[in-house]
Amino acid sequence: MKVFVFNGPNLGRLGKREPSVYGSTTHADLAAVCVATGAELGIEVEVRQTDHEGEMVGWLHEAADGGNPVVLNAGAWTHYSIAVRDAAAQLTAPLIELHISNVHKREQFRHHSVLSDIATAVIAGLGVPGYPLALRWLAENAG
Ligand code: DQA
Repeated sequence: MKVFVFNGPNLGRLGKREPSVYGSTTHADLAAVCVATGAELGIEVEVRQTDHEGEMVGWLHEAADGGNPVVLNAGAWTHYSIAVRDAAAQLTAPLIELHISNVHKREQFRHHSVLSDIATAVIAGLGVPGYPLALRWLAENAG
């Protein structure tokens, strides 16, 4: 089984970006943790990040066509992108919506997600360690 981890806008700046909210782990470190977790679990994990909505939509189409589970941190798109939602809705394997921060403790505009009602589950507020948890659940329950 191959699982995709897709990270959206500004997540490439992890480590530099508002460390009090998102911590000091870089995106490269996040990717390494995910790949190492996959190796431990016996699943293939591919991590990608983009600041471009159309690119994310294309990646979700690829996962839909391949029947791959997805861990998706759509960043700000979470709160308003119907294009990302419509692409994610085409997935046939489980979709885990993930946020590093607890969006419900933050500004009102982060409380609504256009993804949550089509996601299998939502993880928010566990920091980067939420990613290996999501992968562990998928290894045991998907595919
Ligand atoms: C985020 C939360 C979003 O509200 C924000 O726009 C992000 C990151 C998180 O991981 O906590 O870019 O998805």
